Amino acid sequence: MKRFITIAVYLLLPALLISCYNSQMKIVEPSQQEMVKIKSAGDSISVIITNTLKKELKAAIEEGGFLNAITVCNQIAQPLTETTGNNFNLKIKRTSFKYRNPLNAPDSIETLALEYFNQMISEDREIPDYYVQKVIENNKSYFCYYKPVKVEQLCLGCHGMPENMDTSVVNQLAKLYPEDRAIGYSAGDFRGLISVTIPE
Ligand code: HEC
Repeated sequence: MKRFITIAVYLLLPALLISCYNSQMKIVEPSQQEMVKIKSAGDSISVIITNTLKKELKAAIEEGGFLNAITVCNQIAQPLTETTGNNFNLKIKRTSFKYRNPLNAPDSIETLALEYFNQMISEDREIPDYYVQKVIENNKSYFCYYKPVKVEQLCLGCHGMPENMDTSVVNQLAKLYPEDRAIGYSAGDFRGLISVTIPE
């Protein structure tokens, strides 16, 4: 019996610790002062990453059309996002419920942010330009800044209605991303979020 209890404790302890650890994570409203600081940092980083990716995208389309640009997005979007973040000592990610690359799937905190925007959209309300969460975890806190991304005309060549897209593009996307959810958008749609994790 004693042995049984010892084994049970050994088995249960990690589970207990994990659940305590998780329950220690809290999302709170940032103060006005924190909001100003995080908005300013998040705004500039999201402009930099958007411009960098768009520049590469446009150059690739000019060089060899949408089919060529898929290869560029496929090969450089991830490393470029990562190195841009590293340059500022921050973590940058692009995320969406309707993602193309599974690496961009939202984590639990990003899911809350996406739900915040989706809720407003479902109520036909104008979405804000940005959103900030203050996350407290293990007595440490950090901020998550989000910039909403909208679909533009330029994006439809690879994220639009398949019937309006080039067949070679549709086929290539299906080959690279068999579980692709990022198709069927119209101009003006909410595409997702640029997510920037900023330490305190
Ligand atoms: C030439 C094709 C192409 C065009 C044009 C294009 N994208 Fe993408 N997009 C991709 C590919 C490929 C990925 C997956 C790349 C990755 O992150 O690994 C992607 C990923 C994304 C992601 C990351 C989330 C996800 O779905 O994985 C966002 C956000 C995004 N695109 C927004 C846009 C916006 C906004 C535009 C227009 C300004 C646009 N894209 C234009 C091909 C394209």
